[in-house]
Amino acid sequence: MTGAAHEVKTPIFAANWKMNSGPTESRAFLRTFLARNARRPDRTVMFFPPALSLAAVRDSLRERPDILVGVQNIHWEAKGAFTGENSAPIAKDAGATHVLVGHSERRHVFGETDEQTGKKVAAAVAAGLTPMLCVGEKLEERERGETEAVVVRQLRAGLAALSNAQIASVLIAYEPVWAIGTGRTATPADASVVHVATRRELTSIAGEHGAKVPILYGGSVNAQNVRALLDAPGVDGVLVGGASLDAEGWATIVRS
Ligand code: PGA
Repeated sequence: MTGAAHEVKTPIFAANWKMNSGPTESRAFLRTFLARNARRPDRTVMFFPPALSLAAVRDSLRERPDILVGVQNIHWEAKGAFTGENSAPIAKDAGATHVLVGHSERRHVFGETDEQTGKKVAAAVAAGLTPMLCVGEKLEERERGETEAVVVRQLRAGLAALSNAQIASVLIAYEPVWAIGTGRTATPADASVVHVATRRELTSIAGEHGAKVPILYGGSVNAQNVRALLDAPGVDGVLVGGASLDAEGWATIVRS
């Protein structure tokens, strides 16, 4: 169901801490988490802390290079007069390997446009960062039957500047906006429909390269529902906000 050439092998567990956990709290979190998380080759773990906590997180993970660390946003320019912003080369220099682009809070709280997500994805790839492009429909769009059209539009705009080979190295997160931080999760079947449509679009844009792109699900994922979501056809991992803020709870989710 995920497409014959679908090649994603190990599930990805990505924690999006949003604007939570400064350096001190991040270190304490990782002490607890690492005590409960043995290295396992059959899953990939990733943290997206606030940018100011990146160094503390990297430092806490120095014995665990298998765990990946990214930032939650970048500007599309490499440098310049953009007070308050961080660029892809700055994030890379600070030790990030990944970056979230187009998270629904960036799009709907901060007004980020499809075109800007495309520029950010291109800037990330140019700097050697792996972008995780987030896509997803709002409740009114779902109710109007526009879910697939919205996701396809966001995918096309977000990936517009990349070659097919570059597309093979990105990650996608499908996060229905109505499920983020609301406690309302898409059913595994609902998620699967959109994941399969996303895969179809990725292979139509980039052929066999599109088959390699992991597609994560996000939106009120927790220890109770994670297993069923990961078992849903087409779901290659999870992007978790609220439930990734408790170290023991997150360790439980990653073990699932
Ligand atoms: P949530 O957030 O798990 O708290 O719904 C997910 C996200 O925004 O990435």
